[in-house]
Amino acid sequence: MINEKELIKLAIEARKGAYTPYSKYKVGAALLTKSGKIYKGCNIECAAYSACTCAERTALLKAVSEGDSEFVAIAVVGGTETETDDFSDYASPCGVCRQYLREFCDPKNMKVIIAKSLDDMKVFTLEEMLPMSFGPDNLK
Ligand code: THU
Repeated sequence: MINEKELIKLAIEARKGAYTPYSKYKVGAALLTKSGKIYKGCNIECAAYSACTCAERTALLKAVSEGDSEFVAIAVVGGTETETDDFSDYASPCGVCRQYLREFCDPKNMKVIIAKSLDDMKVFTLEEMLPMSFGPDNLK
């Protein structure tokens, strides 16, 4: 069972690690594996902007590099530096992160939780976020 609030709480915690000297927009993600393990991620920016890494991909990179590649949900929160646990907007995963999730997750079952707070969230399937997607199956 997915405890959405718990996952959002961990995404908020993960966000504290964000390194964002350029955008000053901090994102946190908490990625839940099939076996119940949680990987946290934050965005990490770089003076060469194209090398910036989003929070979602940081979490995925940590998990996959540790041998975990089956996921059931990810929670994402984000906002400006002054926002801490109550965000003015939802931080919706960028297109690249949606595609990266698609690489490892079942689009119909993977839940993407975006939240402004512990009590204000929206839950989508990855398929809803990335319809008609191209994925590993297309190359078989
Ligand atoms: N960002 C994320 O971490 N995740 C997303 O899905 C959207 C954008 C980060 C990247 C960059 O550090 C900052 O937010 C502004 O784009």
